[in-house]
Amino acid sequence: MKTSEFIKEKVREIKEIVGQEKALVALSGGVDSSTVTVLAHKAINGQLIAVFIDDGLMRKNEGEWVQNTFKKLGISVKIIDVQEEFLKELVGKEDPEKKREAIEWCFYGKVIPRLCREHGIKYWLQGTILTDIEETKAGIKLQHNVRPDLNPEKYGLPQGITPLKELRKNEVREVARALGLPKEISERLPFLGPGLAGRIVGEVTPENIDLIRKAHQIVEEEAQVLSPQPFQIFPVLLNDQATGIREHKRAFGRIIIIRTVVSEDARAAKPYDLSLSFRDKLTERIVTEIPQIVRVAFEHTPKPPATIEFV
Ligand code: XMP
Repeated sequence: MKTSEFIKEKVREIKEIVGQEKALVALSGGVDSSTVTVLAHKAINGQLIAVFIDDGLMRKNEGEWVQNTFKKLGISVKIIDVQEEFLKELVGKEDPEKKREAIEWCFYGKVIPRLCREHGIKYWLQGTILTDIEETKAGIKLQHNVRPDLNPEKYGLPQGITPLKELRKNEVREVARALGLPKEISERLPFLGPGLAGRIVGEVTPENIDLIRKAHQIVEEEAQVLSPQPFQIFPVLLNDQATGIREHKRAFGRIIIIRTVVSEDARAAKPYDLSLSFRDKLTERIVTEIPQIVRVAFEHTPKPPATIEFV
């Protein structure tokens, strides 16, 4: 189907399903949820409630950035601060599956049903794409929004609408461009739903979030010069320590891994060829600007056998 026909068809579908009711979209600012938001806004305008859920696991100033970007498109986004709720649920959890479960429970079991009750919302729009569904079914990953144990009735969730479920990432980008979304969104590198929690090996503490958020900011700033752009580039914080030197003395510090991949649609990935000068500059900035980090390592594993994310 041509992109323009796809847009017309989905706008018609959303309009028909929602009718006179209200629908919610939890907008992260990624290309998938942003595309769904614009499609839904075209279809149901004022009946759409767009929220940015600030779970404390997003990147620096992300909520304000999303709010301002969508304001320019005539779409108002409300920021919902649930940071404390998420942090509490994550305390003491080191196992990656337990962390994902805690985030899922907070998001789908608590925050979304509460918002829907408060605003009398009957429908909930999601940016799930074909790769998410296929890889979860194949047991490769547990995409947070298509987990087989995500039971809408148990959680008290409203009826879901998933307009992008037949598309892959590159096709979503085409729709985003055709809808007039700015480049910063249509070409935005993927960032996973569980946010910075997925970039921390071990417990998600305020200290670890602070470290990985700072590293993320540096990586994203530096990555702007890369051409072509990698499919993803991000830091991961390990839960161990390594020996380093600070103020001419032996000192133990934290370790950051940089993961950069080339990929079509995340089903398979190869390492991106970062130049030595880029790696030098990135490492220098991280160990200087974040004194707790004494070591930066660059990962070189393709997918498979590694997945793109660590957690
Ligand atoms: P993996 O790590 O499974 O990741 O090779 C494939 C792609 O999916 C993204 N990813 C996620 N995105 N929620 C998301 O929204 C998740 O739970 C999740 N897990 C992985 C990952 O960043 C990559 O682009």
